[in-house]
Amino acid sequence: MTAHSPIHDGYFTEENSAQVVAARSKTDNARLEQCIEAIVRHMHACIKEIEPTQQEWFDTIMYLTRTGHTCTDWRQEFILLSDVLGVSMLVDAINNRKPSGASESTVLGPFHLPDAPELPMGSNICLDGKGDPMLIKGRILDTDGEPIDQVKIDVWQANDEGFYDVQQKGIQPDFNLRGVFRTGADGTYFFRGVKPRNYPIPEDGPVGQLMNALGRHCWRPAHLHYILEADGFETLTTHIFDPDDEYIHSDAVFGVKESLMAKFDLIEDADRIAEAGMDGPYFEVVHDFVLARA
Ligand code: BEZ
Ligand code: FE
Repeated sequence: MTAHSPIHDGYFTEENSAQVVAARSKTDNARLEQCIEAIVRHMHACIKEIEPTQQEWFDTIMYLTRTGHTCTDWRQEFILLSDVLGVSMLVDAINNRKPSGASESTVLGPFHLPDAPELPMGSNICLDGKGDPMLIKGRILDTDGEPIDQVKIDVWQANDEGFYDVQQKGIQPDFNLRGVFRTGADGTYFFRGVKPRNYPIPEDGPVGQLMNALGRHCWRPAHLHYILEADGFETLTTHIFDPDDEYIHSDAVFGVKESLMAKFDLIEDADRIAEAGMDGPYFEVVHDFVLARA
């Protein structure tokens, strides 16, 4: 667009609205210009399709204002909004196109803590003894099926009431149901936790209000979160899910993928309980992960 093109010099009209706005940008930042041009083009098309009243547009702005006001150090309502609208999963999909055979990624979610303690392999991440005991084990492999040494496994889960430690400060011990483990040369891992259960995403704010208004539920199927990091490999942010969960086909944030299902087997056989070093019946999950080369 030249400096004296009709669009550049023209007044704003309903017909040429997006082009007039785009033509105003004067920047060396090509990526910013590209993003704003696309956002304005799509937003204007959306407004032209919806034709909101002034009141509806004001209500929308007030909704976004309330969304911002709901954010604190411990709560990010805009991320939640992006999650329930499927935008987080779309950004995740675009940024994680994996080679075939590699484990798939899914949403990070708002409850990861970067400073969880590193624990000896086999530790129990449940610090308060509540919930059904679970043993999780498996291998971390490359796409040729070879074990990967020194994989940092960062894992976190909700307790058996469906809350993360950061949602129940003073009720759960700090860093309850979180831990970092590191594989050895054989690529194996194992640790203990509790059988996860489904839980609702925070529903007492603007996102919950929207979900209610849309007739959508706020539940996520039972899952465990992982971030797997190793030199020479792409970092994998993912979950494993319980395929028998009632919300497995309607995750509020669209994070479920077929390949992320794990089996939670109830082990009641006394010999197996003794062999696993557990105190009584427990749930066992065996799940391998495959990392893509960087
Ligand atoms: C989670 O699984 O921790 C989560 C993900 C997205 C939104 C809310 C919670
Ligand atoms: Fe979660």
